[in-house]
Amino acid sequence: MAKRSLTGIKPTGIPHVANYIGAIRPALALSEQYDAYYFIADYHALTTVKDRQALIDLTYEVAAAWLAMGLDPDRVTLYRQSDLPEVFELTWILGCVTPKGLMNRAHAYKAAVAEAERQGRADVDAGINMGVYYYPVLMAADILLFSADVVPVGRDQAQHLEMTRDIAEKFNLTYGEVLTIPELVVSPTAASILGVDGRKMSKSYRNVLPLFAGPDELAGLIRRFKTDSTGAGEPKDPESTGLFQIYREIAAPEDTGRVRAALEGGGMSWKELKDAVFELLDGFLAGPRERYRELMADKAQIQRVLAAGAERARPEAAGLLARVRGAIGRETFSR
Ligand code: TRP
Repeated sequence: MAKRSLTGIKPTGIPHVANYIGAIRPALALSEQYDAYYFIADYHALTTVKDRQALIDLTYEVAAAWLAMGLDPDRVTLYRQSDLPEVFELTWILGCVTPKGLMNRAHAYKAAVAEAERQGRADVDAGINMGVYYYPVLMAADILLFSADVVPVGRDQAQHLEMTRDIAEKFNLTYGEVLTIPELVVSPTAASILGVDGRKMSKSYRNVLPLFAGPDELAGLIRRFKTDSTGAGEPKDPESTGLFQIYREIAAPEDTGRVRAALEGGGMSWKELKDAVFELLDGFLAGPRERYRELMADKAQIQRVLAAGAERARPEAAGLLARVRGAIGRETFSR
């Protein structure tokens, strides 16, 4: 049987070029060899997204983005996390074998506590909801419910995956070998693409290239990309700007070699690099942009894909949950 790959996509911002390079493309590549389960982690987003319309819109946007970038819903089971009640039952059960101290050490929770301390709050938990605290347990349930073998995620999720493994081991020690211990797969380029202002491309820095921006917006953002003051004819460090990183990730290797040599040899200005990146990206994204617009104009299409995905995923989830219930001593009654 094919091994299973699973990942969750948190709908918290519009998909951008670094998301594609670091998350979408590697996950789609894995789906060629693995039995892939990819889902919109809408209840994870609920820890921060409190606006009802925003949750609705973001859910469609990320689903449409993955579909537009090439996810084939016949090969990949694409679903919405909240359509599987099994996830939440498993979350509770796992919580009961999870040491509280493990959650105290979670990076996201610790960062929130540090922020409260920085603000001089008397209560360091002020403003932190239980969802933030429970987040890693929900993520463990997402993964363990499908007996995932590999989980492609960014480096920032490595601790969560470690926690998932710890929780699964604790469960198995307590109740017997029911849960599969998953492996982390980190894409090498994940999280290293620089944005418009020269910092890591991230929605929280507002320095992203949206994947589905129109040509004018894309051109404008590329023009504003930060470069150093090296003059047109001087040798340049290609890696000093996200522009070259993006070019390298999308272009054919021989084109990348040529551009790198031209920059290093002083035969290409930053302006010329910007033009080259625009041309490349605009061409590469033209098809997906069209497909994205189509999907967003017909949300029923997206709903059908996600509903069909949930329908395929649920029997799988129910099977594992039945084994878990059996293992913990929760019998099924019938009359
Ligand atoms: N926490 C992940 C993120 O912020 C999203 C996520 C939720 C996830 N559940 C998952 C990723 C399960 C992998 C597997 O990106």
